[in-house]
Amino acid sequence: MKRLILFFSSLCFCITLQAQNKVIVNVDQGSEIISKHIYGHFSEHLGRCIYGGYWVGENSAIPNTRGIRNDVVQALKDIQIPNLRWPGGCFADEYHWMDGIGPRNQRPRMVNTHWGGVTEDNSFGTHEFLDLCEQMGCEPYISGNLGSGSVEEMSKWVEYITFDGESPMSNLRKQNGREKPWKVKFWGVGNESWGCGGNMTAEFYADQYRRYATYCRNYGDNQLYKIACGSGGMDFNWTDVVMKNAGRQMQGLSLHHYTVPNTWDDKGSATQFTEAEYFSTIEKALIMENYVSKHSAIMDIYDPMKRVGLIVDEWGTWFNVEPETNPGFLYQQNTLRDAIVAAINLNIFNRHADRVKMANIAQTVNVLQAVILTDNEKMILTPTYWVYYLYKVHQDATLLPLSLTSNKFEMDGRKVDALDVSASKDATGKIHITWVNIDPNKSQQVTAELRGAMPKKVSGKILTSAKINDYNSFENPNAVHVKDFKAAKLSGDKLSLELPAKSIVMLEIE
Ligand code: AHR
Repeated sequence: MKRLILFFSSLCFCITLQAQNKVIVNVDQGSEIISKHIYGHFSEHLGRCIYGGYWVGENSAIPNTRGIRNDVVQALKDIQIPNLRWPGGCFADEYHWMDGIGPRNQRPRMVNTHWGGVTEDNSFGTHEFLDLCEQMGCEPYISGNLGSGSVEEMSKWVEYITFDGESPMSNLRKQNGREKPWKVKFWGVGNESWGCGGNMTAEFYADQYRRYATYCRNYGDNQLYKIACGSGGMDFNWTDVVMKNAGRQMQGLSLHHYTVPNTWDDKGSATQFTEAEYFSTIEKALIMENYVSKHSAIMDIYDPMKRVGLIVDEWGTWFNVEPETNPGFLYQQNTLRDAIVAAINLNIFNRHADRVKMANIAQTVNVLQAVILTDNEKMILTPTYWVYYLYKVHQDATLLPLSLTSNKFEMDGRKVDALDVSASKDATGKIHITWVNIDPNKSQQVTAELRGAMPKKVSGKILTSAKINDYNSFENPNAVHVKDFKAAKLSGDKLSLELPAKSIVMLEIE
């Protein structure tokens, strides 16, 4: 008898061990709105992002509207791109905007010293960028030059774009064909000023920020949302000093963090990687949780009411460039691993909606963790694109607080949670839960309690593939694609589902 009891209790113990995944979604709670701007993008004059990616010129055989590719615009509209950051990056701090206005054939050229040393002919400038944003229906986010520019130059740029009355800059804009000003809210004052943007100390930058920001004026009802340069990763001192010395003058403070699986000298291949490298990529991606929490905690000291947004305006994977491509162009392929990294990061930003008000993946087309790749007239959508497609339901929805108990994905004694999740309720009352099963080998059985809800219907979509390094190529553009997901079941306020290994699932519950 004793033996029998022992057998049954150890059986129960094993079952408990295997069925640890549990989620409680507090549907009856939630007060924070997930800003749609968390789903923003970043495009720099780098490699083939602007030229070839968006801009092909009016005379191109590739279908375009005033020089801008129609296919790329449509694809980004389909994921409801809310904002686009431009012109850099490091490029922003050596960009002189006046070189990019007026007749294109008369625009001065420059050397793009950061990115491949190529000649920039300035054919894509302020008017073209703002036209692109208008075509996509998204808000522009302009990154001003504090590193090698002047206060006057930045101040005049704001006046050129947003002033409606009679002034030297608004007259110049009219001369260049744009009668009415544009609306530009998001304005960056320096990029990575601790590095490529001028190698400044936090104290020096904070003073410069106050000076430059003073002369970035609000014209009419165009109220600027000024974003100060924040830390790269774990420089918590930078956040502390800049918030202490300039916190009152800003609306946003940036944070940059790239997911680099190996070392900066040898980052690893985008497509050929081992399971150990996959594990390390996930660990590095999950650091975002830590950075967002710690920088937010420092911001809380100076801004307990959370008036200043944390703006994660550069993030994503960074691998070795594809073989035989220009090392300065940062062109990399994009696999299911990238999609998992994107899904984890977006869940993190959603869960920190009280502080994270914008995020911009680097860099939309043909550079780093791109959502779109082009090859002349051809265009493909990467697995990361499909994550944005699945997650667009969270834009401006109410974050639902949740608790998660997860099985672990283990490698050589290191562990991470196998599951990652975030949830929201939209204006029509629909609940959306986005799940990631990080484990590349094991499916995960999950039970979720939808506390405070009595749902009637569940449907879903899934992104997965046979191998973690599967990707979409120009020859096989739909290898990794979204499909319907029917394996979720409702019973009262309980939801059960089995998440296949290495998958991203979006559930809609009504
Ligand atoms: O996104 C590529 C580069 O990474 C950006 O130009 C810079 O801001 C960062 O270091």
